Amino acid sequence: MNRYIRLGVNIDHVATLRNARGGDFPDVIKAAKVVEESGADLITVHVREDRRHINENDLKNILNTLNIPVNLEIAANLEMIEIATQYNPKFVCFVPENRKEITTEGGLDVVKNFKALSNVLKSILETEIKVSVFIDPDKEQIKATNDLGIKTIEFHTGSYANAFSKNKNIDKELKKIEENSFFAKQIGLNCHAGHGLTFENVASIAALPNITELNIGHFIIADSIFNGLQNSILKMRNIIKQASL
Ligand code: PXP
Repeated sequence: MNRYIRLGVNIDHVATLRNARGGDFPDVIKAAKVVEESGADLITVHVREDRRHINENDLKNILNTLNIPVNLEIAANLEMIEIATQYNPKFVCFVPENRKEITTEGGLDVVKNFKALSNVLKSILETEIKVSVFIDPDKEQIKATNDLGIKTIEFHTGSYANAFSKNKNIDKELKKIEENSFFAKQIGLNCHAGHGLTFENVASIAALPNITELNIGHFIIADSIFNGLQNSILKMRNIIKQASL
């Protein structure tokens, strides 16, 4: 089957490096332009509550400078929704957030937080912004997301990526994503995926027929130190393309 998988490149860690010294470089906008010129379909950024990498000013500059759409990742609370509706990116993905975590360690627990989420997300679901939720590949989470009226999910691929690096339970983790993407598709949801994806582990995810978008950050930015951002993106894009043919 010939499919096209959209690639969102997450540039949070360009800002992490900049913020390590509190100055102006590396320039986040310059990185965003390279991402666009390299053929990425979207720029993904996570404005965290502690602003440890991307901040509102970066978000504003990216939105003002780029032509490709922005996928804004935020925590599901009123402060962050206010920011999203003020800046109006094309896509918003709700992610869980815990200030002490190094990165987003798992999916949002939509089942447990269903009532609170249905209240908090009400206003943004009435806007033009296309909303998705970052969840673990789990049937109950998918059903709850659908019940919220959200039609796009992004599967957290962290457990699969960890299994891959330990060379243990890879098939089990992959099967979970595969089976849940079939279930999600059956009930009419779009499936994206991301977290911990690399040149080595991305092909098996890109080969899953119901995955339509991948969001990849840390590995691409890390690889770009050695190979240049454009080369890293082109190589990732090529691996995804070959795997999805
Ligand atoms: N997708 C979402 C929703 C994320 O929050 C992140 C960052 O944790 C990613 C994709 C990209 O993950 P990574 O930086 O590990 O590629």
